[in-house]
Amino acid sequence: MKVLGIDIGGSAIKAALIDTLTGEIVGDRLRIVTPSPATPETFTRVISGIRRQLNWQGPIGCGFPAAIRQGQVMTAANINASWIGTNVVTLFNTATGCPVTVVNDADAAGLAEILFGSGQNCSGTTLMITTGTGLGSALFHNGNLVPNTELGHLRLADQVAEDYASAAVKTREGLSYQEWAGRFNLYLQRLEELFWPDLFIIGGEISKEHLQFFPYLSVATKVVPAKLFNDAGIIGAALSVRQHTF
Ligand code: BGC
Repeated sequence: MKVLGIDIGGSAIKAALIDTLTGEIVGDRLRIVTPSPATPETFTRVISGIRRQLNWQGPIGCGFPAAIRQGQVMTAANINASWIGTNVVTLFNTATGCPVTVVNDADAAGLAEILFGSGQNCSGTTLMITTGTGLGSALFHNGNLVPNTELGHLRLADQVAEDYASAAVKTREGLSYQEWAGRFNLYLQRLEELFWPDLFIIGGEISKEHLQFFPYLSVATKVVPAKLFNDAGIIGAALSVRQHTF
C-alpha cells in the first residue's frame, strides 16, 4: 500500500510516497522550507501544494511538531500559537480531499525505527530522541508507543531542555560537537534516571553525523543512531496511517 508521508518540522517540510509494507521511499523526496509565520493557513497551503505537485489521491500521513490528541493540536513550541486547539486532521482533510492521519513528528519517526530501523525486535523500553529545531521524544515498551511524551520540555540547567540541548542550539550558539554533546549527554542522563530505557535511538538531521558526537556520550544505556536517519520522519508519518491506534 502506498501512502504520502509528510514530515512537518520547524525548519523544513519533507514529503515522499512510501511503500508501507517495506517502509521504502518510492520516487523523489520533496523538501520545502517551513513557512513563516508557521500558521494553520501557511501550512495548509504547503500541504495542498505537495499533494498537487505529486498528483496524489490517496491516504496521507503527517508527522507534526506538537502534541496531537484526537486530531487536535495541543501545544505550539516551534509553531505559531494560533495552532492550539485547531483540528489539524479536519483542516488538511478538507484542503486536500484525501484521508489524513496526523501524529506527533517524533512519534512518527519512532514508529519507523521500531518497524524498520534500529528498534526492530527490541524488547523492553526504547526511547527515541529526535533533534533538529526542538527535541522530540517517542517512548516504546515492547514495541508499543506511549504517544505525545514531549520530553524535550523537561527542565535542564534551569531552562527548557530543547532550548539548551537541541541541534538548533548547537548552530545558534556556535558550539563544537564536543561542547554540544556535553549538553546532550546531560539530557540523556536525565532521561535515563527517569525511564531506565534499554535503548536510546537518536534521530534528526544530526544523526547522520553521529560519529562526530557519539564518542562524547557517556550514558550507561546503549545509544544507536536512527537507521533511517532523517527519513524516519517521512516514513513513520506514512506508517502511522496503518498503525494509528492512538
Ligand atoms: C515539540 C514536540 C516535537 C519536537 C520535535 C518540540 O518543540 O513540542 O512536539 O516533537 O519539538 O519537533
